[in-house]
Amino acid sequence: MNYFDDKAVNIDILKKKAYNLRWAEVADGVIPLTAADMDFPCAPAIKKALLEYVEDGYFSYTPKRGLSEFNESFSTYVKNKKHEDINPNNVLAVDSAARAMFIVAKAFLKPEDEMIVFDPCDFLFRESCLAAKGIPVSYPAAIDVENRKMDLSKLEDYITNRTKMIGLCNPHNPYGLVYTKEELGYIMSICEKHDLLIMNDEIWSDIIYPDTQFNSIYCLGNERCKRVLSVFGFSKSFGLAGLRIGCVYASDDKMFEKLVDASEVMSTAGGATSLSQIAAIAAMNDAQDWLNEFINHITNNRDFAVDYINKEIPLLKAYKPQATFLLYVDINDVNMSGSDFVEYLKQEVQLAIVPGGHQYFGNQSEGHVRICLATSRKLLEEGLLRLKNGVNKLIEERGLKHE
Ligand SMILES: Cc1ncc(COP(=O)(O)O)c(C=O)c1O
Repeated sequence: MNYFDDKAVNIDILKKKAYNLRWAEVADGVIPLTAADMDFPCAPAIKKALLEYVEDGYFSYTPKRGLSEFNESFSTYVKNKKHEDINPNNVLAVDSAARAMFIVAKAFLKPEDEMIVFDPCDFLFRESCLAAKGIPVSYPAAIDVENRKMDLSKLEDYITNRTKMIGLCNPHNPYGLVYTKEELGYIMSICEKHDLLIMNDEIWSDIIYPDTQFNSIYCLGNERCKRVLSVFGFSKSFGLAGLRIGCVYASDDKMFEKLVDASEVMSTAGGATSLSQIAAIAAMNDAQDWLNEFINHITNNRDFAVDYINKEIPLLKAYKPQATFLLYVDINDVNMSGSDFVEYLKQEVQLAIVPGGHQYFGNQSEGHVRICLATSRKLLEEGLLRLKNGVNKLIEERGLKHE
């Protein structure tokens, strides 16, 4: 059975269950290629593990620091997949990667401390800093499109005596870029020089295209990584966003204890549900073949979409991602703000995508949109045809120049 063929996407169910800019929130007839959440049901192994757990009918308290099987599975998982050497005792299951980021910020930022937040980048870096009453300082992280390189040359200029932390999104959402060992070493050396912490979000590290090698910051060794506070989540690679499951982890024991304190698990006000942890354990231990098939599927989707946008759609330029199932598209030549363009597409061609701009990715992402590729090939083709029709309609209506 192919888990990712066209028939696998059940729009009737998605219309009832998929929120956050997706099927349940758009008008009938609109195709949402919006939030980073897949249109496929989860791996059968995850469903089976959940059903077995539910069958017993017991939903008792779990250990405050999470099920030991979760912590051990995670330690083995990151060792095998990313060569990270993390003691299972230094892994804490929490209710989402978003929560994990808020915990890191709360544990280590004091009011008025500054945190460097790359712009563009996922809004949760800024929001977690603000929730801790810190001050997010945007670093305009331009990329050289041809070479897939982020410009880090001016990073140090943004550091003041109030800077406490740098946010690192590796792989990067929305660029879909992975950092080289040299870049990670460079970021680390700046953090060492100025005694800064690193909020290291690796939620996208499972979604790496076959032509790319992922490097975790832990390749620099645990001694240097004692200033690294890491975040992972199961929403993206396993389609478990609604179960709200992720974790925080650290190689340094003392730093990890501060995360535990900030998480409120010891008072039972924080933590992840038993069902969510069971799903994540099955994802790590029994859903890897399914994940590999998913990556094959989105590799085909990526290659098709990048080619189609760059060759068939006038005025738009798509960056080819190395990781993530997100496509970052330059719409500057359309001469419209991201949100106006997105609204136009929704009204005129029934396609929903995510606008660049302050709200989701930061000011530098203005003039761009983000498209989610984690759907069937059929829906993606239809969505991109609508995008093409929308752009052509705009060209005609506004007399836009194009080649
Ligand atoms: C970089 C990044 N971090 C964190 C999250 C949040 O994930 P979760 O659903 O686990 O809160 C997302 C979701 O899009 C993301 O892209």
